[in-house]
Amino acid sequence: MGGGTCRRETRGTAVGESLSNLLHENRRFEPPASLAEHANATVATYAEAAEDRLGFWAEAARRLDWEKPFTEVLDWSNPPFAKWFADGTLNASYNCVDRHVEAGRGDKVAFHWVGEPEDDTRTITYAELKDEVSKAANAIEELGVETGDRVAIYMPMIPEAVIAMLACARIGAVHTVVFGGFSADALASRIVDCGAKLVITADGGYRRGAPSALKPAVDEAVAKVEAEHSGLVENVLVVRRTGQDVAWNGNIDIWWHDVVDTSSTDHRPQAFPAEHPLYVMYTSGTTGKPKGILHTTGGYLTQAAWTHWAVFDLKADTDVYWCTADIGWVTGHSYIVYGPLANGATQVLYEGTPDSPHKGRWWEIIQQYGVTIFYTAPTAIRTFMKWGAEIPAEFDLSSLRVLGSVGEPINPEAYVWYRETIGGGKTPVVDTWWQTETGAIMISPLPGVTAAKPGSAMTAIPGISADVVNDDAEPVPNGSGGYLVLTEPWPAMLRTLWGDDQRFIDTYWSRFPDVYFAGDGAKLDDDGDIWLLGRVDDVMNVSGHRLSTTEIESALVSHPKVAESAVVGALDDTTGQAVVAFVILRESAGDGGEEIVADLRAHVAKEIGAIAKPKSIMVVAELPKTRSGKIMRRLLRDVAENRQVGDVTTLADSGVMDQIKTGMAGSA
Ligand code: WT7
Repeated sequence: MGGGTCRRETRGTAVGESLSNLLHENRRFEPPASLAEHANATVATYAEAAEDRLGFWAEAARRLDWEKPFTEVLDWSNPPFAKWFADGTLNASYNCVDRHVEAGRGDKVAFHWVGEPEDDTRTITYAELKDEVSKAANAIEELGVETGDRVAIYMPMIPEAVIAMLACARIGAVHTVVFGGFSADALASRIVDCGAKLVITADGGYRRGAPSALKPAVDEAVAKVEAEHSGLVENVLVVRRTGQDVAWNGNIDIWWHDVVDTSSTDHRPQAFPAEHPLYVMYTSGTTGKPKGILHTTGGYLTQAAWTHWAVFDLKADTDVYWCTADIGWVTGHSYIVYGPLANGATQVLYEGTPDSPHKGRWWEIIQQYGVTIFYTAPTAIRTFMKWGAEIPAEFDLSSLRVLGSVGEPINPEAYVWYRETIGGGKTPVVDTWWQTETGAIMISPLPGVTAAKPGSAMTAIPGISADVVNDDAEPVPNGSGGYLVLTEPWPAMLRTLWGDDQRFIDTYWSRFPDVYFAGDGAKLDDDGDIWLLGRVDDVMNVSGHRLSTTEIESALVSHPKVAESAVVGALDDTTGQAVVAFVILRESAGDGGEEIVADLRAHVAKEIGAIAKPKSIMVVAELPKTRSGKIMRRLLRDVAENRQVGDVTTLADSGVMDQIKTGMAGSA
């Protein structure tokens, strides 16, 4: 079947090699006639955008409220630094909140918030959201946060996370949301990199039925920052969520309820130029240091809102939309906060895990709130497949009409299971390809237009230009593979890396002349449809989360017992890839003892976060290296995936792989 083959072929960097044996996938799913008939985006939309790309995006931008309308759409006079709608001014928070209230939709539900403990729910209308965001904006202004200042947000999935983001946007402060699963060290390095003066957090959140603390990590991070950059963090604003005990530093810690709840609900949002920075989102690159992806206001909001409306066929008056991502990732930014709220959607926001208190929790929520549009990740779908179709079968999922997937390639089996078992065989599945850097969806079927193929993200959406090129930057013919590139600037594109223009140029714009290099391998099938094949660089994709091999390797070698390490992403049935580490211990560490593996896993969790913990760690005597000293990860991946080890002729010492394999066998 297609799935296994497709996924296995995605490994490695030899994208140029023949991929002709890939993808024998003949199934097609036509859009339901009823959906196509009233679809927001149609065949004509592609034609309009093709005829006048900039006119198309200008039209999309006019779906927002501008205080001062723009006259210029794109300024590309200094590539790769783009300016979109540059002479227009707007406020993102006003567009996401106030304008809906002013249009008489204040009573419409913005969020059905569902806490992990059952019966812990909150309904928030747009009018209430406006009051909450206004109060928070007043409070953080009172704390001295000004336009252009940076604010770090480290929160569980509670409404205050959204409110905090919108409060920052409202006053022109730049938020940087750090996923709550990241470690204190990771938080500290992000605070320092972007110079955040305020941290917004909570005592904790609920995770698998128990309170899980967040504040101690913030305390540790702030102490670390303080030691190196005294006075940088002026305040820590703490939401009380779980009521658990917290350490309190009276000099900087402030309870949210003490300052936000007492603030005025009147706050006039100021309009900012379209290119005013909106947020920085850190993501892993090929080197150890995370990259601060900078998104600005007008273009980003335009594309987040338009794609949310078109790709999910959002009917704001009737749909109930649920994106299961965490707010700490870009998906949460674009498809929980900015896109859906700009469109005035009604959403479900869920705090917890899919299996708490039972494995049908998500389906129960869909049934209870009548969710119509559902957006999740392949890793979740594969987990549900493992748990069995009888679990969702217990719930009424007939409200669903569009399903979305994001984060990694979705194998055809998972796609079809999703469509059949969750979507009742009638819902289009939109497999949406994009990145933290692209800010919004770039390649995807449109649910009212595309006869979708399971496993393919199909084609660039209207207004977007993508291509697949070979090593010489030449577009490949249909039926061939190569590198995915984006050939025209787009409104939601990253503007630079925070504080590092040169790295922005080097990472994305130097591999091929004049086009954006996405870092993904891709194939065009005989119809010219795009199949994403995974990363071609040292970036892994574990459960749809991006991790850098180098970053984990540096975490491992920072342990006193480790001399050297190599990390690979090995194929995993559930998480897509799993982190597998090979380490050479220092002589002083002896054989490391039995606890070494547990020690090292805990060490990685501390340095980066639990999501980066290697699934397995192999202690080895040598690593396979070329004569020039480069580690051959391809061979380690062969071992980790239990495959015959490939060509070893370029190894400096060809016996190394035998030693490693023997070691593996011994330890199994
Ligand atoms: C990388 C970006 C976009 C939000 C979530 C991840 C992979 C993402 C797909 C898809 C195949 C996909 C790519 C990309 N990816 N969506 N539909 N099909 N691959 O954002 O952490 O910035 O990761 O995720 O490899 O480069 P991210």
